[in-house]
Amino acid sequence: MSFDRLAWHYRWMEAVLAGGLLQRCRTRWLAEVPTASNVLLVGEGHGRMLEACARTMPQARFTVLDQSAAMLDQARRRWRKIGTHQNITFQQTDLRTWRHTGAPFDLIVSNFFLDCFSPEELPRVIANIGAASAPTASWLVSDFIVPAAGWKRLRAQLVLALAYGFFRVATDISARRIVNPEGFLQQQDFQLQRRERFNHELLQADLWQRLAPKPKTQDAVSLGKPT
Ligand SMILES: C[S@@+](CC[C@H](N)C(=O)[O-])C[C@H]1O[C@@H](n2cnc3c(N)ncnc32)[C@H](O)[C@@H]1O
Repeated sequence: MSFDRLAWHYRWMEAVLAGGLLQRCRTRWLAEVPTASNVLLVGEGHGRMLEACARTMPQARFTVLDQSAAMLDQARRRWRKIGTHQNITFQQTDLRTWRHTGAPFDLIVSNFFLDCFSPEELPRVIANIGAASAPTASWLVSDFIVPAAGWKRLRAQLVLALAYGFFRVATDISARRIVNPEGFLQQQDFQLQRRERFNHELLQADLWQRLAPKPKTQDAVSLGKPT
């Protein structure tokens, strides 16, 4: 799977097909994220979210992972253009097999990325990211969704059938449909904090937060009770 062929076209296609909508989703909860110093952006593509993060988090260091060298190149160009001086690492990586060995990340950003994976791949990708996340990390997630019922559901199914058809030809992604990531995020101890849906429930912007394990109370410790 590679987005290399799309990299040069991704930005203008987004502008033509979605206007400012995707960027509104990406940045919806950015102002509500607790202060982060070590930020991971996965499948970041052209770097528009990276730019927004850099502007709101002048003290943070950033790690940008993407499987596509051409997409990373787009993000690097954008980074140079905005001319900020934070510490940054760009790395070509497949998140399906990635293992992190450095300091844990306190903010994860994944926009229109989790929907690239099949039901078999998605739990592994989320577990790999979870293993790299700090005990109180936040996770910003934007993705397409399929509403539960009615005309909005039919509309979303049609839009997504066209989108997946296109991406399968252009990039050879393995996903054939949207897989709901919620259960896998919960398995990594993330809990949903904020959610907004856009464009008749075609898109969703979430803020998830990993909650540190509750400290055992003195009573529970002395009685040997689980907390
Ligand atoms: C649909 S684009 C989304 C780009 C951007 N995050 C956005 O908000 O528009 C998916 C991105 O995920 C990257 N990607 C897909 N599969 C990947 C994988 N297995 N490992 C790392 N990056 C991957 C692609 O190269 C591409 O940049």
